Formats: sequence, structure tokens, C-alpha cells
Amino acid sequence: MAYSLLIRHCGQLLTLAGGPPDRPLAGEDQRNWRIIPDGYVACEGDQIVAVGPMQELDRAQVTGGTAIVEAHGRVVMPGLVECHTHLVFGGNRAHEFQRKLKGEAYLDILASGGGILSTVRATRAASEEDLLRNALHHLAGFRHYGVTTVEAKSGYGLDRETELALVRAAGTAGHRQEVRVVRTFLGAHVVPPEFQGRAAEYLDFLASDVLPALHGVADFVDIFCEAGAFSVEQSRSYLQKAKAQGFRLKIHAEQLHDLGGCEMAAALGATSIDHCDYLTPEAAARIAHVSDGHTVAVLLPLVPLFLRQEKYAPGRQFIDAGLPVAVSTDFNPGSCPSKNLWLALAVACLKMGLTPLEAIAAVTLNAAWAIGQEQLCGSLEPGKRADILLLEVPTYQEIPYWLGENPVREVIIGGVRIER
Ligand code: NIG
Ligand code: FE
Repeated sequence: MAYSLLIRHCGQLLTLAGGPPDRPLAGEDQRNWRIIPDGYVACEGDQIVAVGPMQELDRAQVTGGTAIVEAHGRVVMPGLVECHTHLVFGGNRAHEFQRKLKGEAYLDILASGGGILSTVRATRAASEEDLLRNALHHLAGFRHYGVTTVEAKSGYGLDRETELALVRAAGTAGHRQEVRVVRTFLGAHVVPPEFQGRAAEYLDFLASDVLPALHGVADFVDIFCEAGAFSVEQSRSYLQKAKAQGFRLKIHAEQLHDLGGCEMAAALGATSIDHCDYLTPEAAARIAHVSDGHTVAVLLPLVPLFLRQEKYAPGRQFIDAGLPVAVSTDFNPGSCPSKNLWLALAVACLKMGLTPLEAIAAVTLNAAWAIGQEQLCGSLEPGKRADILLLEVPTYQEIPYWLGENPVREVIIGGVRIER
């Protein structure tokens, strides 16, 4: 069969290939994956079928029907994978920005009934149509940045009906446009007003009354393990129940305190542990060991920036300890209203010590592992979906350098060139 799409004369083809096939990239592998100078990518339909240097291109497969993208020496790489977002919510929290600038802390705003609870009120008041419209608007923003797969968490409903509506809206949004959406249930975000002082009862309610409605709908179950949200013991018991029901696990932990949530979740086989700003390198090494390199630490460098905190996850030491690292925006109305994953990548280099190649792996292949999509996306390899970016820049070194600039020239999703 002839190629349906050929991207040729790629100055640097960032394949992300060459690491171990059965686990995310860690240690040296996170920066030693294959870059092909003057390369090509060939697709048939929605799949990549060949990748290599231009001199090895099988010209017999290039026919009059082959759409050609001329890279003219620019960088070509996999579509970005955004592995941690709170995509669907009502309203915004611009009014709290002033409070933050005056020095009020994130958990203090939450304790006063604002923060996450303020978005819960706005989300409950919104219609499902409004929620869907907002989600589509934000997905268009992600598409513009070259994000081709997005993980979307619920967590601003905190009652059965609204939580299910959020999961539904994320799914519908994923089908209405090209960016793929992977769904995570975060009903255990904070304790809702109706269950004030009864956190354990709320978690029991989620496990028995809500999770059963999400089989085959949400892939992951997540919990916010933090002072002012859920304790390590509560999180353990809830995640155990979710696991017993067949869900894969995630956790928000060690964001503001070192409580031990990441290690607890990794011991349960969590696919990812997210935030990790207070996770120590020693604990990271133990997690890499106990998970046999399969649990991914999802780092969210725009969150401490936006919350005006000094402490950033020691990503450099995590990688050196053998813990695979992904990077995401954590897009949400409270702790990171930005969808700019390129900025997150650059801040991961500046504040967490990642090298540009490690950071590129963190927003592609390792991010795909963090949401169970590694068979489908995250690298340019035959058999994977043709989610491909053509950038403006000639070398990968320029990606973090043009701080926060969007380097994307062309986005291809499932072998189709996308209007942005
Ligand atoms: O990942 N930390 C908890 N949850 C979100 C923020 C949610 C919000 O502030 O609305 C996060 O940072
Ligand atoms: Fe989050």
C-alpha cells in the first residue's frame, strides 16, 4: 500500500524511540532516545508505518495520492501528551488572584470556603451544555499548542449527579473534536459541604455509589491526599477499593507537605503519582524500586509558580534515582489556569533541573505512560497513531529557550492535518 502522508526533510526527527519497550523512560534512557537527522515519517491512514533517515525512504511507496509535508529542516516530534488536567469546570477564580497576590495561601483560601469549593459552586450551577462548551474551548487551546491527547479529571461536582456529568462532558468533548480525551474520576478532590467533618463517609459513598457507574467509562481513579483534603490512611483505603473494582490509580500527593501519599500509592501499583514537590529523592528511589520503574512521577512546575511557592519537585534527582518523570500543566482554574505545556516544559528545565531532552520525553512518551496510552502515542514508531508535530525551530535546544513561545507550525492527529 502507498503512503497516505509523508513528512520529509525533518532537520531533527525526535522519535522518542530506542528505550525499553515495557516501561517508561528513566535514568539515562530519559535523555538517550533516538534523534534522526534529515529524517522522514510515513503514514498510512491514521498510523505511522515507517520512520527513518531520508536516504532510506522507500520512494516506491510515495505516489500521486501521497500528501507531502515539507519540513524544510525543522524539528518534527510526536504530538504532546497532556497527562494531568482538570478540563471540565464552571466559572473561573480570577477574583482569588488578588487574594493570592496579597499573600493568602492556597490552603487558607480553601479553608475559608474558596478555592476548589468556589469552583464546585460554579460547576454545580452550570448546565451540562455550558460545561461542554467550556471544555471544547479549552481543548481548542490545547490543540493550538500541539497537544494531541489530554487526560481530563472530574472533581468539581462532589455529588453523584454532577461528577457523572463532568465525566460525561469530558467524553463528549473528546468525540466532538480531534484531541483524544482520557478520563479520570477525581470525586475525591475535597470533602463537599454536605459531608463536612465526615471525610471517610464521603469516600465510602464514592466507592459504593459512584464508582460502579464508571466502569468502562473512566480509566483512572484519583484522590487529593493533602492537609485540608484526605489523609494517607483515607486515601489508601479508597484507592484499595477502586483497585478492587478494576480501576487504575493516580494520586495528587506531596504537593504542599511530605505526608507519604506517593509511596503509599506506588505500593498499590499507581500508574502515576502527581505533584511530588515535597517528595524526597530517597523516597523517589524507593518508589522506583517498589514499582519496578513503572510508576511515573508527574511534575507540574507551573503550579508552584502560580501559587507563589519556592519549592519545586527535585526532578533532576528523581531521574537520577531511576524514577521516570512526566511533565504536565495541571490545567485548572485554581492552581494553574495555563494550557501552555511548552512553558511547563521550560520551567521544568529551569526550576527542576531537567535537560531539554528529558523534558521533551516528559511531555510525550512518559506522559503517555502516565495515562496508559503508551501503546498508542508518545513516540514516532511504526504501529503508533500518527499524532505528529512540525515545529518552527530547527533544533530541539530552541524549544525551552524561547520561553513559553508556542513553536508549533503544523499539527497532525491520526494522520490528518488539523486546522488550528
Ligand atoms: O492539582 N491540588 C489539588 N487539585 C488541583 C487544583 C484544583 C483547584 O485549585 O481548583 C491541583 O492543583
Ligand atoms: Fe491536579
